Amino acid sequence: MIKLENKRLLACAELMAQDGGNDRCAADIGTDHGYLAAYLVQSGICKSAVAADINEKPLASAKKTIAEYGLEGKVTPLLSNGLDSVPRGDITHIICAGMGGELIADIISRCEWAKECTLILQPMTKPDELREWLYDHGFLITRELARRDGRFVYSVMTAKHSESGIPYPKDVLYLHAGAIDPVEEDGTEYIRIAAERLKRAGEGILSSDSGSETGKRRLAAAEKLLSRIGGTL
Ligand SMILES: C[S@@+](CC[C@H](N)C(=O)[O-])C[C@H]1O[C@@H](n2cnc3c(N)ncnc32)[C@H](O)[C@@H]1O
Repeated sequence: MIKLENKRLLACAELMAQDGGNDRCAADIGTDHGYLAAYLVQSGICKSAVAADINEKPLASAKKTIAEYGLEGKVTPLLSNGLDSVPRGDITHIICAGMGGELIADIISRCEWAKECTLILQPMTKPDELREWLYDHGFLITRELARRDGRFVYSVMTAKHSESGIPYPKDVLYLHAGAIDPVEEDGTEYIRIAAERLKRAGEGILSSDSGSETGKRRLAAAEKLLSRIGGTL
């Protein structure tokens, strides 16, 4: 059995295990070594997976993992730019982990059937831009975890398309902290870092324009976020 130790990837598996039933089938986009796809199938979280990557070298590494664990026929390696060459098939979950928020949004936007799937997304950068894109395109974040990996704390989220709209406002708080629960693992840390970033941004804007409404909104949002974790500015 493959030993998956990366907390970001384990959180992706955790979110997938919490969503849907026994017919789960994953498309792991940007699979690199293919560890997550292999783990999902071996642990029974999904019955099969596509392990896709845009580059030959990581795909060769994924093929090696598949062979090493005897997962041929259950995990399919595929050279693909995003989901462009991934057949719709039985895929229930699309996973995009370890890429920038803008790239993840671009990958989802180019796939017509992404709306029919649950998305498990783990942006390395610009989570706020990804949340905004999801919001603007009718995807509801139903669950969001924070996980430390090395020096940084990352967001790992589940998102689903909602025909009835998003039942919360697209405000600064949502864009910067999403649905992160401060009580859960690494949640307090994520919110503290988001609040500090907003505070710095707000102070920067106000130092050149003391009446700026944007600057004031940033500071107010920082204060609200800190109050969620019992802190103050
Ligand atoms: C940093 S690795 C992340 C690996 C793994 N998903 C993780 O989170 O640890 C990013 C991978 O995404 C692949 N990638 C980058 N752009 C892509 C795209 N447009 N479509 C598919 N794969 C892509 C890269 O080749 C690389 O293997």
